[in-house]
Amino acid sequence: MIDENVTRYSNKLKKLGINHKIVEHPQLKTVLEVQNYLGLTLSDGFSTLVMKADDRVISVVRRDDLRLDFGKMKNFFGVKNLRMVSDEEFKEFTRLEPGTAQVFIPGTQTYLDRMLFEKEYLTGGSGSFTCSIYYKSADLIKIPGSMVADFVQEEVIRKSKVNIQKSGNQKLRIVSGITPSGDGTLHIGNYLGAVRQFIQMAKTTDCFLFIADLHALTTIQNKSQLQSNVENLVLNELALLGDLNNITFFRQSDVPMHTELQSILNNITPLGLLKRAHAYKDKLQKDVMEDEINLGLFNYPILMAADILLYKPDMVPVGRDQKQHVEITRDVADKFNKTYQKNILKLPEPHIPEEVATIMGTDGKRKMSKSLGNLIAIFEDEKIIRKQVMGTYTDPTRIHSDDRGHIEGNMVFAYLDFFGDKSKVDELKKLYTEGKVGDMEVKNYLLDSLMTYFARARARYEDLKVNPVKVKKILEEGAEKARKVASETMVEVREVLGLTNKYSFFNY
Ligand code: ADP
Ligand code: TRP
Repeated sequence: MIDENVTRYSNKLKKLGINHKIVEHPQLKTVLEVQNYLGLTLSDGFSTLVMKADDRVISVVRRDDLRLDFGKMKNFFGVKNLRMVSDEEFKEFTRLEPGTAQVFIPGTQTYLDRMLFEKEYLTGGSGSFTCSIYYKSADLIKIPGSMVADFVQEEVIRKSKVNIQKSGNQKLRIVSGITPSGDGTLHIGNYLGAVRQFIQMAKTTDCFLFIADLHALTTIQNKSQLQSNVENLVLNELALLGDLNNITFFRQSDVPMHTELQSILNNITPLGLLKRAHAYKDKLQKDVMEDEINLGLFNYPILMAADILLYKPDMVPVGRDQKQHVEITRDVADKFNKTYQKNILKLPEPHIPEEVATIMGTDGKRKMSKSLGNLIAIFEDEKIIRKQVMGTYTDPTRIHSDDRGHIEGNMVFAYLDFFGDKSKVDELKKLYTEGKVGDMEVKNYLLDSLMTYFARARARYEDLKVNPVKVKKILEEGAEKARKVASETMVEVREVLGLTNKYSFFNY
């Protein structure tokens, strides 16, 4: 149960646009205990220190692996005395128990140490000993009146930098799967709405990304279609991702532990949990007889739970429509741990990047989607992309090229905001609203911008397409790394279930 205070605080953060997730845990007093429990280290968390600078109460937020330099701070504030408030003062000021400080303490000026931003995500206090909050670090600057400052001790910074580089296994781990739906190719909506976020996250996290070919079996039951979808998606993804540093990229069916764990989890999953799942309920609503629905679709969330739990990730970045599946995964993991009285499976957090807008299609009316055909492709022939750009909805009220045009709802400008050069786009917008530039010119600029933006990805795509051996090698290496992690989990699972006994010889 999440404390009412925590919920209230979370709502306040939401209003401020501060991305965060509440994580529940047993009652834990120290930061170290919390971070250990969450599988994180001190460098992944922060504390809010309420202090007195002469007569002023301030709060200073610093990462838990770093120490503050009081001398630097006194200079900065121009004060003689600087001290932490006493427990009594803390209670009086925050109305919270000492040790549970929330990052935003109204009525104080908040100083954010700049080392916080070296991490993409951080945990901090929630106001309760049984919850912590994952924050997106960059959002902390949305705290009203907050300021970024440089307060930590120099030698500690240096030491921690070494740690950051060394500590590959201290990074947050994320897992995500992509279903090879449609024809497996990606459009600029998929790029902006999904791939781009993933590339961003991969810079600071340890990522497992796989093509969910087994999930596709629920709907694609045709050999050549499945082959071509998966082949297309592999090439599209690899070309867009480019550098696979931090990313273990593989194909689900190359790691048989996914189906093995699914089959084990089936035994602890109540039917009722799956009956509430969207994919199944949606299918029922489409006038499909319940008896006709395939078990693969019904059981889809358990395969997804296995996909996730094998890798013990901290977070699962997914679209809003997949949030329920991550919640089911948490329920299943919790049930498993309780049934076998051991914390083997880690409860993951869904991560829904809030800032991801839905990209509208070239018709300007509905979301860009393969099934609607209102898309701009990434890897097609330039001629085809030109046609898609030329057919893009602009401003229907503009009949002659010297009529004043509108930017709002004009899809060419909407795409240019992402792919064009800002100053050139601003200039074109100005000219457009003054009736001084034609649609054609703006569209040509969009085409050029897309070609430039995706030039490297397109080159990689062409290269991979004629080098199947290279692609195979990437997939092979990815699967090998994934199998290593997945088998470690499976060894623990087999052990706790009692599948392992005195006659066992099996090794992965
Ligand atoms: P499509 O609708 O073209 O078949 P999918 O449903 O396969 O695309 O979506 C794949 C990923 O791309 C998902 O993460 C989804 O959220 C994202 N995505 C798809 N279309 C858009 C869009 N128009 N705007 C933003 N993101 C999108
Ligand atoms: N079901 C997800 C989708 O349709 C794809 C997926 C499968 C997935 N397994 C996963 C996503 C595990 C995240 C984690 O988009």
